[in-house]
Amino acid sequence: MKRACVIGWPIEHSRSPLIHQTWLERYKIDGTYTKQAVNPAKAQTFFSQFSSSGLVGCNVTVPLKELAFQSAQYRDGSAIAVSAANTLWLEAGKLCAMNTDTYGFMTHLGTTVPDWQKSSKPIAILGAGGAARAICYGFIEAGVEAVWLFNRTRARAEELARDLGSKLCVKDWNERIACAQACSVIVNTTTIGMNGVGDLGLRFHNAAPECVVSDIVYAPLETSLLRAAKLAGLRTVDGLGMLLHQAVPGFEKWFGVRPEVTDDLRDKLVEEIEKHA
Ligand code: ATR
Repeated sequence: MKRACVIGWPIEHSRSPLIHQTWLERYKIDGTYTKQAVNPAKAQTFFSQFSSSGLVGCNVTVPLKELAFQSAQYRDGSAIAVSAANTLWLEAGKLCAMNTDTYGFMTHLGTTVPDWQKSSKPIAILGAGGAARAICYGFIEAGVEAVWLFNRTRARAEELARDLGSKLCVKDWNERIACAQACSVIVNTTTIGMNGVGDLGLRFHNAAPECVVSDIVYAPLETSLLRAAKLAGLRTVDGLGMLLHQAVPGFEKWFGVRPEVTDDLRDKLVEEIEKHA
């Protein structure tokens, strides 16, 4: 039997088991996927002993993603770009790392709004944490012209821009308010709006009609940002699809089947999120 899990500290809130257990059942795979709390102080040992743990791999969540990246013996391009790993697997006894947040976000965006790249206007990213890094990398890989970065702490956005190259342009946090008038895609990667707390204060009056508004916050599913964008007639992309799609490459590595993100699975997650709202 193949065993995988998700590790983090804390880990109770993770929705990954629901996703992977659903796929294990659907594809009739003899495997398990559980949650495991790993204390950051003991994470180094966890990673160094991974090959004898009996696990085929794991997902990694906060606050262990950077340490997972550093501990791996092989890192793919997605992990290197973000300097963090959310998916680990064993290959010939070696601990390997990738970051599937980029894949998850870009796949969901491309599926929901296939023509998002039609406009040559800049992309606006709000926030400069790990998720922003993964998503900026995705847009650069997709060949966009320019990415505007807005972050409360400007120095953090500047660091990200230095790391990911000249297409990134750092803007003042206050300038975010009018970004819908100038940009083709807006992505909120901050925690603003999570559990209904806070509002980004973007103005959608006179927004560019092709502007697509995306939020990686998925609880609630319709954040105040997405609601305001919808009211203005803009297309929106919710955060749940990223969560679902980022799980695909890991499952395939560990269990040998590329799983499908279906409406059934999505409904199951929505139900779970609403239960805890
Ligand atoms: P992750 O790695 O998941 O992206 P993170 O590194 O904690 O998470 O980043 C959270 C992001 O939300 C940051 O961009 C943070 O801004 P700062 O860099 O200034 O801290 C942003 N953020 C969180 N709360 C915020 C708030 N109240 N106002 C503005 N930005 C906020």
